[in-house]
Amino acid sequence: MNKQLLLLALLGTALIGSTVFLLVKSNNNVQENEENLAQLWSLWKKTYNKKYADPDSEHYRIQVFSSNLDFVKQDTTGTMGITQFFDLTRDEFAATYLTERLTDNNEPIAEDIPIDSSTNINWVTEEKVTDVKNQGSCGSCWTFSATGAVESALIIAGKAERSINLSEQQLVDCCTAEYDNAGCNGGNKDQAFRYIESNPITTEANYPYKAVNQKCNTQKAALTPNYTISNYKQVNASTNDLAEALKIQPIAISVDASNWSFYTGGIFSNCNNTTHNHAVLLVGFQNDAWIVKNSWGTTWGENGYIRLKNGNTCGLANVPYYPIA
Ligand SMILES: *[C@@H]1O[C@H](CO)[C@@H](O)[C@H](O)[C@H]1NC(C)=O
Ligand SMILES: *[C@@H]1O[C@H](CO)[C@@H](O)[C@H](O)[C@H]1NC(C)=O
Ligand SMILES: *[C@@H]1O[C@H](CO)[C@@H](O)[C@H](O)[C@H]1NC(C)=O
Ligand SMILES: *[C@@H]1O[C@H](CO)[C@@H](O)[C@H](O)[C@H]1NC(C)=O
Ligand SMILES: *[C@@H]1O[C@H](CO)[C@@H](O)[C@H](O)[C@H]1NC(C)=O
Ligand SMILES: *[C@@H]1O[C@H](CO)[C@@H](O)[C@H](O)[C@H]1NC(C)=O
Repeated sequence: MNKQLLLLALLGTALIGSTVFLLVKSNNNVQENEENLAQLWSLWKKTYNKKYADPDSEHYRIQVFSSNLDFVKQDTTGTMGITQFFDLTRDEFAATYLTERLTDNNEPIAEDIPIDSSTNINWVTEEKVTDVKNQGSCGSCWTFSATGAVESALIIAGKAERSINLSEQQLVDCCTAEYDNAGCNGGNKDQAFRYIESNPITTEANYPYKAVNQKCNTQKAALTPNYTISNYKQVNASTNDLAEALKIQPIAISVDASNWSFYTGGIFSNCNNTTHNHAVLLVGFQNDAWIVKNSWGTTWGENGYIRLKNGNTCGLANVPYYPIA
């Protein structure tokens, strides 16, 4: 088979999975392996438009890329492959992206009880979920989880169109220390709801996303149109209570995303159910799996989404919250 084509096909689809590693693995010739790595690297760089300051830093990033390849080669679940995060070490990834804060040290842990496998809820196909966004190199997952939940709540309540786009930057800049949040350095989705309950949130167009911490711009924040919520609620730490709440609307959830950096598709469960470090939006349950909207762009996972195994996978039922539009 044409190697170039094979590599292209592998990078071009979400189904990178194990095939690429067979290619690398099946080759016992060291030189050939290095050639494959170089080809993979240059295709990957092109695909994600990556640039490096100098040859030394690029050389270091190739080594990181190679060790990430080794890590996902061990994957037996078929859900891990090459992603946009392949030039980051696991510690670097965690420092930038796994920044959701614990509200307290006594957060509940839901029992790992699967819900009725025939449950069928999908707010995406109902057209009540806005397009997947990209938080960039900023630990602002908590703002995207919150805006996603509020956008869906407003659409379902008939108070907004599906094209609504709320300002994450307003939350990054204005929902700060007094809400125990720290912008790109992390925060809590429930504290974002507390802010929106008393401070209307404006649109992305009025207060655009910059992926950096800035001083709160009160003029931009006061622009219309603006949106608010009347209240927000915590869901009991229970998979069944979560499924009931999901029937009403999408739910902001917290998860352990330590291994999500390499997710390329399928039903994922390679995670811890007792901790959390990332905030996302639960948007459905179908074919015996939870459907979750992430904020890492549409090239990640399944067009920006991840499916999680039935049960309390990645701790998704531990601390769910939803806003009332
Ligand atoms: C968490 O997952 C492990 C491994 O799947 C399981 O044995 C354990 O019961 C789960 N913890 C809770 C609190 O359900
Ligand atoms: C919402 O705003 C973000 C950030 O500016 C942008 O990337 C995205 O395309 C917008 N989405 C929609 C549906 O307009
Ligand atoms: C929100 O928008 C309305 C007009 O739709 C305006 O009257 C009100 O002052 C705005 N509130 C804030 C806090 O910006
Ligand atoms: C949450 O749990 C409490 C105590 O276990 C129970 O009384 C309450 O009815 C539950 N709430 C919902 C919405 O299921
Ligand atoms: C992440 O994946 C590795 C390899 O599959 C696994 O050993 C590890 O337990 C996973 N981490 C968590 C937190 O589940
Ligand atoms: C899950 O998280 C707990 C608490 O941080 C930790 O003790 C445990 O080792 C973790 N398990 C895995 C598989 O990472």
